[in-house]
Amino acid sequence: MAVRLFGRKSRPRVYVTRTLPGDALDRLREQAEVEVWPQEPPPSRDELARALTTAEGLLCLLTDNIDAGLIDGAPRLRALSTMSVGYDHIDVEACTRRRIAVGYTPGVLTEATADLAFALLLAAARRLPEGERAVREGRWSAWHPSFLLGRDVYGATLGIVGLGQIGTAVARRARGFEMRVLYTGHAPQPPKEAVLGVEFRSFEELLAQSDFVSVHVPLAPETRHMFNDAAFARMKPTGFFVNTARGAVVDEAALVRALKARKIAGAGLDVFEHEPKVAAELKKMKNVVLNPHLGSATVEVREEMANIVVDNIEALIAGRTPPNCVNPQVLAKS
Ligand code: GLV
Repeated sequence: MAVRLFGRKSRPRVYVTRTLPGDALDRLREQAEVEVWPQEPPPSRDELARALTTAEGLLCLLTDNIDAGLIDGAPRLRALSTMSVGYDHIDVEACTRRRIAVGYTPGVLTEATADLAFALLLAAARRLPEGERAVREGRWSAWHPSFLLGRDVYGATLGIVGLGQIGTAVARRARGFEMRVLYTGHAPQPPKEAVLGVEFRSFEELLAQSDFVSVHVPLAPETRHMFNDAAFARMKPTGFFVNTARGAVVDEAALVRALKARKIAGAGLDVFEHEPKVAAELKKMKNVVLNPHLGSATVEVREEMANIVVDNIEALIAGRTPPNCVNPQVLAKS
């Protein structure tokens, strides 16, 4: 049995920073007094701070930066649940110190995010946005032997940085394209090598040997800006860089420099260092495919995420261990 974070009888106050798809919030309303931030843009830090003076539960998104200052100003907060697999926007240490449980939504978005990584890879390699614009703008006059030539994906070498759930799902897709798949991470994963036919490399070797590099690491102090000038300099000048993980894994200014200097051939980006701001130079580059953080954006996945984010809070209110908790130690009996 988990330690109870909420009183047995009360209906806790749960603050929700954005309305959710589907009917998950109706379920939550059966157990809690729910206040939903009603409009766009999302609540400011001051607004969040105000809500957290009384909230006992918080249901937030990856765009809400839940820092130690906010946690300190939330005397009644017992649980929070984020509708995302990433939780780099939450100071988990501060939560754990205060014995606040942190829920998240892993698993359900793995395949959709892998699909999107592959879509960006294909779009960048085969110049789909340029082709689409040419057709719409009437700049396509006839089939031409050297019009909008891209690069082969079939049979090319893919380097996966971070062979976790999403990286693994990307590797499975690459098999269908008969790609050679390299991966890097803390250590080799022999069971996955046997099943997926992937080969371990150091980060530097992977960059030098891959035609496509796709990032699937969480944002953490050790991964922040792991893609810097030195990393891009190691990639092939014909190589493509794909990021569906977190923008700040990349030094965006270094990426711009690498693209301008033709150190790499192109990029497919779903995430940005200062979202929703995107470097003006990137917007001007034809060889960069830009997407507004849509990795998990399918009707099915977003409804599942909404259900899980509510399941996490509901379980905590009922004194059960939530299905997905980042810091389960706060629920252990001491
Ligand atoms: C999306 O980026 C997520 O973390 O769920």
